[in-house]
This record gives sequence, C-alpha cells and structure tokens, in this order.
Amino acid sequence: MNMTSTGILFLVITVIYISAGNAKNVFVNVFCKAENVGQFGQQSLLECEVQTIQEAADAKIRVVTWKKQGAKKPLLVFHRAETIQQPGYEFAEPSWNDKNMNVSLLINKTLLSDAGVYMCTVMTNSGDGESHANLKVTAKYSVPVIRSIPEKITQKAGADLMCQSDGGYPEGQIHWFEDGKTERIKSSKMEVKQTQSGLFNLSSKLTLVQGSNFSKYTCVVFNASGGKETETTFEVENAPEAGGREGRKGLDSVSKIVAPLVVIGSLIVGLLLALLFYKRRTQQARRHSTKPLMGDHQEVGRCESDVEEVGPQEMDEKCQCSLV
Ligand SMILES: *[C@@H]1O[C@H](CO)[C@@H](O)[C@H](O)[C@H]1NC(C)=O
Ligand SMILES: *[C@@H]1O[C@H](CO)[C@@H](O)[C@H](O)[C@H]1NC(C)=O
Repeated sequence: MNMTSTGILFLVITVIYISAGNAKNVFVNVFCKAENVGQFGQQSLLECEVQTIQEAADAKIRVVTWKKQGAKKPLLVFHRAETIQQPGYEFAEPSWNDKNMNVSLLINKTLLSDAGVYMCTVMTNSGDGESHANLKVTAKYSVPVIRSIPEKITQKAGADLMCQSDGGYPEGQIHWFEDGKTERIKSSKMEVKQTQSGLFNLSSKLTLVQGSNFSKYTCVVFNASGGKETETTFEVENAPEAGGREGRKGLDSVSKIVAPLVVIGSLIVGLLLALLFYKRRTQQARRHSTKPLMGDHQEVGRCESDVEEVGPQEMDEKCQCSLV
C-alpha cells in the first residue's frame, strides 16, 4: 500500500514536472510555410513566423538559427543582438529586430543547389520553437525558336524544322503539333543538354515529309510535371519560284539606293561647276581692274618717292591722300 501511494505520488510529480516543462514551450510556436517554390536567379522567400499566446505577447527573441539540411554551417544566426549570415541570405524583413515575430528567410539569388529542407529554430524569453520549410527551385524555359533547314523550303526538297528552348529546370519535353491538331507528331527527335549551372536546353528536330504543302507546326515546351509552359508556331510556305521573286526584289533595293545617289552626285557636280565658273569670272574681272591701277601707280609713284616697296593698292591710297 505504501509502495503504491509513493508510486502514484512519483507519477503525479513526474506528470506535473513534465507538463510544467512543456508549458514554457506552449507559449511559443514557430510556423513555417511547408512548401515553397523559388525561381532560378531570383529571390526566394521561406516564410516563417513566431506565434505566441497572449501571456507571452511581449516575447523577445534571443536566438534565431536558419540551417539547411545537410549543410554544416548555418545560413543565418541571430544571437546576443547580432546577426551573422552567409552572403546571399538574410532576414526577409528589412530592419528586423528581436521584437519582430516574422523570422522569414530571404535567399537573394536562388540557385538550383538552394533546393532542399530548411530548419528554423527560435529561442525567446518565453520558450523555444522549431519548424521546417521545403524549397523547390524551378527555371522557366525560354520561348522556343524554330528554324528550318534549309532556310527556304521548296516543295521538291523537303526540310527539317529545328525547335530550341533553353534554360529550364527541371528537365522538360518538347512536342510538335500540326495545324491545331491535339495529337502530337511522334516522328520528332528530342535532345537534352544540361548546362554548367544545371539548367536544361531542349531541342527537337521534325522532318517534314517531302512534298507536304502549306501547313503550321507548333513546338510546345512541357515542364517536368507535364504542364504546357511555352510554345511557338512556324508557318511552312513552299516558296513557288524562289529565284525570280528574289531577283526582282534585289534590283528594287539596288535602285532604291542608286537613285538618290545619282541626284546628290549631280547636285554636287553642278555646284562645283558653278563655283569654278564664278572663280574664273572674278579672276578675269581682277585682271581687267588691275591694268589701269598699274598705270596710276606709275604716275603717283613719282609724287611719293620716299615710300618704297609698297603694294599697288596701298600706294594708290597714299597718293590719293597726298593728292587731295
Ligand atoms: C514576413 O516578411 C516578408 C518580407 O517583408 C513578407 O513578404 C511576408 O509576407 C511576411 N510574413 C508574414 C506572415 O507577415
Ligand atoms: C508546370 O506547368 C504547370 C502549368 O503551367 C504549373 O501549374 C506547374 O507548377 C509547373 N510545374 C513545374 C514543376 O514547373
């Protein structure tokens, strides 16, 4: 009997002790958004919030730790009023302080290697909490570019269409469709290349059947989960008399360049001729006007014998002065 009562007492005490110990933690909870998707090369947000019950409404955060599963060093640690973070990682709140319950993590330039599970641990003066967040990283495939080989498709020769879409993640697929039909063309061949950064470049070759006429072909890029991501349509138009039309076009463009050149050229030549003509006339006029001047010079040269080595015009002026 004594044994059982001490046993019960021990049990009660243990229960009280455990619940008291836990009670401290019940005040504080950390909630993280479990699933997050980030875009390659852009910012990613891992949203986490510390929630407290009313008794702990003015809780102060003492420690925050953000760690990625499998990594040795934490990405961000707040401890003793100091934040230490690895480059590219920071609190999402611009001026975060220990009263701010939004402890979300911002990844500045998301890489494929950022994908994974993150742990956020928070210690406050009213208890501690921890939560996890998962980050998936995707990259959007570029709008596909289609080119034909050869560039000019003629009815006789047949051709290939090459479709290319780059920089996506995870690995996607390219399918071809004809003229709005829902069934994909099965004869195409796809090639996948992975770049150094881990992104995928997709390309697909579609061989057009010889003699197939005017038609539209659509190259569609599907993401890893089979969702349609982006597409481009190519219109195949068999060029009928490829040479003839091209030739005339070439001539047209040549005459477009030559015509203004001829006009400008003849204008310049005309101007030059006019200038030459004008120059000739003025020279002739000068020659006429200098002859009587020379005569004057001889006359008045005598009246001003003390002036030596003077040009005919200066002499003329001086003599006129002295004559007046
Ligand atoms: C936390 O802060 C970030 C950045 O300011 C914001 O985008 C997010 O919505 C906030 N989360 C909550 C739960 O307030
Ligand atoms: C794939 O595309 C669909 C539809 O656009 C989209 O809802 C889904 O999130 C995408 N999945 C991936 C892994 O990008």
